[in-house]
Amino acid sequence: MSAPTRSAGPAVRGGRARIAERTLRTDRWWLSPLLTTLGLATFVIYATIRAFVRTAYWVPEYHYLTPFYSPCVSTSCAPGSSHLGQWFGDFPAWLPLGVLVLPFLLGFRLTCYYYRKAYYRSVWFSPPACAVAEPHAKYTGETRLPLIVQNVHRYFFYVAMIVSVLNTYDAVVAFHGKTGGFGFGLGNIIIVANVVLLWAYTLSCHSCRHITGGRLKHFSKHPARYWVWTQVSKLNTRHMQLAWTTLGTLVLTDLYVMLVSSGVFADPRFVN
Ligand code: FES
Repeated sequence: MSAPTRSAGPAVRGGRARIAERTLRTDRWWLSPLLTTLGLATFVIYATIRAFVRTAYWVPEYHYLTPFYSPCVSTSCAPGSSHLGQWFGDFPAWLPLGVLVLPFLLGFRLTCYYYRKAYYRSVWFSPPACAVAEPHAKYTGETRLPLIVQNVHRYFFYVAMIVSVLNTYDAVVAFHGKTGGFGFGLGNIIIVANVVLLWAYTLSCHSCRHITGGRLKHFSKHPARYWVWTQVSKLNTRHMQLAWTTLGTLVLTDLYVMLVSSGVFADPRFVN
């Protein structure tokens, strides 16, 4: 089937209504795409800078590690921050220390069904809002390169699950006291909250919903899968909120680790 084109033709029949204005809407339809673009750009700029700076990503006293540097598996990593060991020698300065998973996390978010909707509308204006014409003459969707690559999302989901396990491990390791043993501070609450929300975002993925309950002809014959699918479906209704919340908690967690690590303030401790 050929892709629909934006041709001026008779009203509705096979094309769009012949209206000279881009839109007849008089409300602030541009506000939502503008805020979305600003939100995404803020995160991308912040995360890019933090991924490359290589400073203040580890608090040795409490074993706090920012998620942008986990796992840290090079000899360039700060002593003690390599929870999984140092698999590689020194990384050159231009290579982020979290390079092992950052491309997959980026791919996971870029191909996420929600984010696709968000940046197709807000950044690519395809279309920017309901009843607002897009500037592009042709629409080919995700049927050819490069956007057909979006269909690999489910494989990024598998990697994201592994990364969530790693983040969980980091959160457990972070219950560390200043003089050793068990410790618990405000940083732990922030790190654990971030991990819980990352799990919620990951499990609310549309691919996860399909993996757990898709391709079944009879739910009644698969009660366990049906139950899991039902829970995932509940989370899935909050996927957009979780997508934004986790961008915020990732920044908050990283910022907190950075400020404590650089001595701007001390981590309030409840135990040790
Ligand atoms: Fe958003 Fe899978 S659909 S993470």
